[in-house]
Amino acid sequence: MTQIGIDAIGISVPHAYLDLADLAQARGVPPSKYVEGLGVRRMAVAAPWEDAVALAANASRRLFATTGADPGQVGLCVVGTETAVDHSKPIAAWLHRLVGLPQRARSYEAKHACFGGTAGLLTAMDWIASGSAHERTALVVCTDIARYPLRSAGEPTQGAGAVALLVSARPRLLALEPGLSGSYTAEVNDFWRPLHRKDAVVDGHHSVACYLDALGGAYMAWKDACAASDVHGDLGRRIYHVPYGKMARKAHRHSRMLDGLAETEADATFAREVATSLAFPAEVGNVYTGSLYLALASLLHHEAAALEGQRIGLFSYGSGCVAEYFAGRVVSGAGSVAAQLRLDAPLASRRRCTVSEYESIRALDADADSRPLGQHEARDGEVAFAGVEGERRIYVG
Ligand code: HMG
Repeated sequence: MTQIGIDAIGISVPHAYLDLADLAQARGVPPSKYVEGLGVRRMAVAAPWEDAVALAANASRRLFATTGADPGQVGLCVVGTETAVDHSKPIAAWLHRLVGLPQRARSYEAKHACFGGTAGLLTAMDWIASGSAHERTALVVCTDIARYPLRSAGEPTQGAGAVALLVSARPRLLALEPGLSGSYTAEVNDFWRPLHRKDAVVDGHHSVACYLDALGGAYMAWKDACAASDVHGDLGRRIYHVPYGKMARKAHRHSRMLDGLAETEADATFAREVATSLAFPAEVGNVYTGSLYLALASLLHHEAAALEGQRIGLFSYGSGCVAEYFAGRVVSGAGSVAAQLRLDAPLASRRRCTVSEYESIRALDADADSRPLGQHEARDGEVAFAGVEGERRIYVG
């Protein structure tokens, strides 16, 4: 089978985060409900100048800077997002200039709730497998800002960030299995965001049930596909879309019980098979499209060297809904590549903000997209949304 997969990963997160124990106190909720009940610790808080374009550009630049990979070799760029900034112009167009991608590249945006990045990744795999790549790489960038109304049940499950993936025919991190995946689609009303809203509408408990139904469907389809193919092997680790840590725990129990384990047996495998993938998501919160790949980054950061040669299961979910189960094998040498990427660095250089600062930042959302140039802050060496001039969004850095 052709080796196609993820060659490198770059992450970008906003510079401020909120400690969820602080939020719990402000909302009159026991902190244990957020920390143990939902499995969340901190959530990223995006300022207006840290929009989905800026996060995507900073994640991609970081990927190229830490690996030395050449943006000039990219032939396909897909941006997965559900918090785009324009109904027509895709984030991929800004990204193309801000990252210095070649003019002879195809670039566009993909949307299906949290699934858009996975749609891009599967397309990139097919593009390479078909021979269309001609030795070029694909850049798949997942970028989002997860917003629910203040004081709603979804509030502690917000977050923001971008994950950039370089996909190639000589992957140095994770060799995927082209053509071998399980898909699931059903029309449901679990989570959506009408065009006039910045924050999402969600039927929270129903969304948990929809996620689990989709996982069951996609996982069994994947198992059937594996049984009919010549690709076999146990999964050493399993990673999931992580809207909040507890959801991944529920997902793992559900899929392992579909394997025939009793509930206690399924739970007993969680610490070994899943826990390290949840460390980064617990620091950042839900990043929608990038959530599964933030979990992958967390897993590889902590365990890539030990996992070389092992097979990893991946579950992607997008509300609405669509899901995919697929797998990949950690490549020999991935440990030293993951160390070189310093995937945890963006998480280490952040500032804890207070609940009132967070609420002030959220109050800026209403006119963030129409503020004139000069009212936004930019950090040295990073891309930032500088404001609007004549209806045009201006990016600096
Ligand atoms: P809620 O109603 O506030 O919470 O909303 P709850 O009452 O269901 O409690 C949550 C858990 O905390 C429960 O545990 C409680 O027992 C426990 P569980 O039964 O789930 O195991 N608990 C406590 N634990 C310790 N100490 C305490 C305590 N109190 C309670 N004192 C909900 C929770 C997730 C529904 C809400 O936060 C929400 O609506 N979030 C947004 C929706 C979401 O994330 N859905 C996930 C599936 S859909 C998805 O993943 C797609 C998505 O990413 C979007 C996309 O695709 O684009 C969202």
